[in-house]
Amino acid sequence: MAKDTKGMKIGILTAGGDCPGINAAIRGVGKTAIYEYGMNVFGISSGFRGLAENLYSELDEGQLSGILTLGGTILGTSRDKPYKGDAAAENKIPKQIKKNYLDLGLDALVVIGGNGTMKTASRLFDEGLNVVGIPKTIDNDVWGTDVSFGFDSAVWIATEAIDRLHSTANSHKRIMVIELMGHKAGWLTLYAGVAGGGDVILIPEIDFDMEYVAKYLEKRSRNLKPYSIVAVAEGIKKPKGISAATYVSQAIRDMTKLETRETILGYIQRGGTPTPIDRVIATQFGAKAVELIAEGTFGVMVSKNGERFVPMPLSEVGGKVKLVPGDHSLIRKSRKMGISFGDRKM
Ligand code: F6P
Repeated sequence: MAKDTKGMKIGILTAGGDCPGINAAIRGVGKTAIYEYGMNVFGISSGFRGLAENLYSELDEGQLSGILTLGGTILGTSRDKPYKGDAAAENKIPKQIKKNYLDLGLDALVVIGGNGTMKTASRLFDEGLNVVGIPKTIDNDVWGTDVSFGFDSAVWIATEAIDRLHSTANSHKRIMVIELMGHKAGWLTLYAGVAGGGDVILIPEIDFDMEYVAKYLEKRSRNLKPYSIVAVAEGIKKPKGISAATYVSQAIRDMTKLETRETILGYIQRGGTPTPIDRVIATQFGAKAVELIAEGTFGVMVSKNGERFVPMPLSEVGGKVKLVPGDHSLIRKSRKMGISFGDRKM
């Protein structure tokens, strides 16, 4: 055990939407901190709100056991943004957060979250808090890391859902439109769409034309393909007040004589146990965060770069979104296999 870290106090909080693997990351942080470095670990409830309102308790080894496979977050989360809203104008909440951080005697704070959380983490670091971030989100849109944990589990869940649509689509000879989460990014829809054998994949990063989509589906029908699967990202361009799935499904119905049905998978994509891959990477993200704290590296997010977990300055990450590049190799290969992205005649 490294002597100079013994008795250090670290806080850990989870902010933003939950996702599978958060508890695995908390466990990775906590067990590494306790076993390897002799640190004391404090779990802060409900995201940044918990730090502003002093909602915390010390986590011992017992509380960190048996949580690896649990979905959600044992700490609870919130979408509270300390730098937004009325109180933020006077910096009231960040000041309270800093005061509570100092009063509790924290030496460092691990913040597990997505884009918005990393932005807040970056500002808190600027205010003097020793922050280390860990990227989590099913959207996979955190800038500066190959992948965030949560994504693999969501792809798995969404793929299973698409798999199940095939048999019912085939039985009724229907076009099945499935809407997947991802906010403004199409990662989840692209990966689950390909993994689930989707015929059309519509993502926010690729401008599509419903005419092309309709013509393509009609052609499949003429070629005696009994049914088709259309995977649609929630963030595609569409009129306000209508879901992406409903919009696309209705447009296909109006433009073709094909029968359509829509499914909005929703929060199921964020729930339940993480996949083995997510358990492994969340554990590594957590352990690396503590190694960085032990060596005194702050103001960074742990980033996965190939097989390595490396620090990435929060100032570079905050406020950016990692979108699917239009020429992503999975898109190029999918096109060659006849998958339509709705942007060209096929
Ligand atoms: O960021 C994760 C995510 O599930 C997005 O895919 C989705 O757009 C959003 O969160 C939903 O947010 P909320 O949990 O606030 O409804």
